This record gives sequence, structure tokens and C-alpha cells, in this order.
Amino acid sequence: MTDPLILGLESSCDDTAAAVLRGRDVLSSVVEGQNNLHASFGGVVPEIAARAHAERLDICIERALAQADVTLTQIDAIAVTSGPGLIGGVLSGVMMGKGLATGLGKPLIGVNHLAGHALTPRLTDGLAYPYLMLLVSGGHCQFLIVRGPEDFTRLGGTIDDAPGEAFDKTARLLGLPQPGGPSVEEQAKHGIERAYRLPRPLLDRPGCDMSFSGLKTALMRQRDGIITENGGLTRQNRADLCAEFQAAVRDVLAEKTRRAVALYLEEEPAEPAFAVAGGVAANMAIRAALQKICETAKVTFTAPPLRLCTDNAAMIAYAGSELLAKGITHDMTLSARPRWPL
Ligand code: KG4
Ligand code: ZN
Repeated sequence: MTDPLILGLESSCDDTAAAVLRGRDVLSSVVEGQNNLHASFGGVVPEIAARAHAERLDICIERALAQADVTLTQIDAIAVTSGPGLIGGVLSGVMMGKGLATGLGKPLIGVNHLAGHALTPRLTDGLAYPYLMLLVSGGHCQFLIVRGPEDFTRLGGTIDDAPGEAFDKTARLLGLPQPGGPSVEEQAKHGIERAYRLPRPLLDRPGCDMSFSGLKTALMRQRDGIITENGGLTRQNRADLCAEFQAAVRDVLAEKTRRAVALYLEEEPAEPAFAVAGGVAANMAIRAALQKICETAKVTFTAPPLRLCTDNAAMIAYAGSELLAKGITHDMTLSARPRWPL
């Protein structure tokens, strides 16, 4: 029996996305960012985001169908992000999903956006349950043991900022371009770790919780100290601060990953595997540190390609396909849930 053809829709933040998937084959994945709409406001404006989703979803769907070379009538089921996220955007997607499912007479599946991220390593690498996942981006930072499409155990996460957010704020403090992650990583290549000292927050506390908001405050103090002393920052000062900041995030993520891996291994998984996903997984220094920990613990390390780690609809279609396989579908009472922890 061939796998069903699934149309996935994603509109929970500032990316409008549609994808067509069969099994683990991503036939198309269209993502339209809204950066240009929000840039001058210094952050995502919910009302503008919702309006853009409502205006662009149908166009993204048309493009996704065309790229996959299928027609709407061939689609077997509609999977849509029904939370968590900005309510206006989630509503746009849910309404579109309901309309399509009703019109086509096909099943509708509401998908948790975080479950979409968490199941991506199954789509890209076919990981077997249970695997350990670190979701680390501009908005997320958590360790999850993933046991099934609706079965997650959270081992810990950030108690304040996500690391990507901390990278972005650091870049802002040092006058570097956004997004901060890539610019801080580039500067760090020319800097010396420990030229300035930043803390490694929460390492003295047991468990897998993390904190990153204090790092940027500590960095700001270091920066202000240098400016007071020398009248400004040299290129080398900037590079050194970036190197130490990146090292601090790396050290915290590495140590907490080591602990999460130990907890995960207590369950004696048959095929132990770890996956890191999210924008921060693009950072080579962080990635290498996590990889080393997995090698030491004899746990397979995977990192899905970035285009499937950042917000997209293929992950929603895939999570939908797993739910559908378990017989989970939703009717017209499916609601948009702005808050929906895993
Ligand atoms: O997953 P993502 O595209 O979007 C969400 O947060 O949902 O992640 C974006 C975040 C940004 O904060 C960005 O600065 C960070 O990931 N990032 C990086 C790197 N590339 C992107 N952080 C550190 N190093 C990088 N190379
Ligand atoms: Zn996301």
C-alpha cells in the first residue's frame, strides 16, 4: 500500500509554509519568510504576521502542489499547525485546513508545532523511538525524549532566553548584523576564549535546566568596562567577546547534553540516538561539542539539514502522517491553541 499524500500547512510565527509529502519523501516544501515586513519594528508584529499568513497561504499551497506535480484532489489528508504560536497566524492555518478538508472530504490533522520539530529526525534520518532531542533555536531550548508522535518526556530546558535569542542580543550589543548567530560565530573565529570571562550559568545546579539571559548582561558589563577604559571597542575586543560568549553557550549546552544523554541511556534504548535541531544547531563550535559528547557516550549523533530544522511545513506534514497512521484525526471543532506545551 502506498503512503498517503499529505498536504502540510504552517503559519504559527513569521513563516508561511506549505509542503507535500508522501511517506518520508518531501515532494515540495515552500517557505515564505516575513522578515521584510517586520524588520523595521525590531520583532514580529502579530497583527502583520496574521494578515500576511491569510494573504499568502493559498499562494504557498498552489506553489507546493505545483512543485510536487500533484493536484489538490490527489491529496489524502491535510495536516495543519494548530498551536502553539501567535493566535492570528495559527487561526489562519487552521481555518484554511478546515476549509480544504471539508471541501475535499479528506481527513484533517491538527499538529503541535513543537512535535513537528521533534519528529523531524525521523523524517530526515529515520531515527527509531525513543531518541533524545535538543531543540535549540531563537525561540526554543529543551531536551526531549521522543517516544512517539504524542509521547514526549521533557528533561529540562531554558528558564529564560533561548540561546539563539542570546546570540541575537549579543550581536546587537556589539553592533554586529542580525541574525546574531552567524555574525557572532564569524567574529568568534578571530577571537580568544577567556580573554574576557563570562559565567557558565546553572552548571552548579543538578539537572538539565539552562539559563542564558544572565550571559548577555555579563557581556554588556564587560563591553561597558572596555569602552570606559579605552573609549571604544577594537575589532579584537569584539572578536574576543564573541569567542567567550560562544564558548559559554557551548559549554552550558555540552554539559547539559552530557547529563541528558546519561538520563536517556538509563532507559537502555535499543538504538541510542541524539538529534539536535533548530537554528543554533548551525553553529559549528556548538555542534562539534555535542557530537563529541555523543561519541564518548556511544550514541548516534544526527543533525537534520537546516532547511528542515527551521520552521517549515514538511515537518508538520510528517508529524501529521504519523498521527494519521495511528488513526488520529480531528473534526471541525479543532481549535487554535496559542499555548500548547508538549
Ligand atoms: O530555528 P530558527 O531559524 O528560528 C526560530 O527561532 O524559530 O533559529 C533562529 C535562531 C536565531 O536566533 C539565530 O541567531 C540562531 O538561530 N542561529 C545561530 C546560528 N545560525 C542561526 N546561532 C548560533 N550560531 C549560528 N551559526
Ligand atoms: Zn519553530
